[in-house]
Amino acid sequence: MVRIAVIHGPNLNLLGLREPEIYGGDDLTRIDLKLQELAKRENMELRITQSNHEGEIVEAIHAALGWAQALVINPAAYTHTSVAIRDAIAAVRLPTVEVHLSNIYSREEFRHRSLISPVVVGQITGFGTGSYLLALLAAKWLVEAGRH
Ligand code: DQA
Repeated sequence: MVRIAVIHGPNLNLLGLREPEIYGGDDLTRIDLKLQELAKRENMELRITQSNHEGEIVEAIHAALGWAQALVINPAAYTHTSVAIRDAIAAVRLPTVEVHLSNIYSREEFRHRSLISPVVVGQITGFGTGSYLLALLAAKWLVEAGRH
């Protein structure tokens, strides 16, 4: 079993209602269900957290230490602002995949900069719910390939 922590950032609890033309129609429950289905097929165990609070996201990253072998994180708006989340990812040294439902580079300029990208292995952006599914497979691949 490959153990992966999945962390959803602020406002992602409103998916489904929130700007569906940008983020798609799936709500977070549906995304989590699709992740769990994929995890089952691929022999992975997931711990999934959503928080609207920066400090709680930092704590979820810390909590992954000692359990998870990799992280999948959509830091949402904190992508563009949070030194604390970036430092937490750098501190735990777990191989991390950054996820965005929308293509952040085709949107407003303030979304083009990710403070998180320099401390992750890679980023998947623009595939809607598929971004999460691809990120989960990427995280598994990182663990199996022994990448950090
Ligand atoms: C997002 C992109 C961010 O710019 C935005 O603040 C979000 C969601 C995405 O998944 O496309 O909340 O991370």
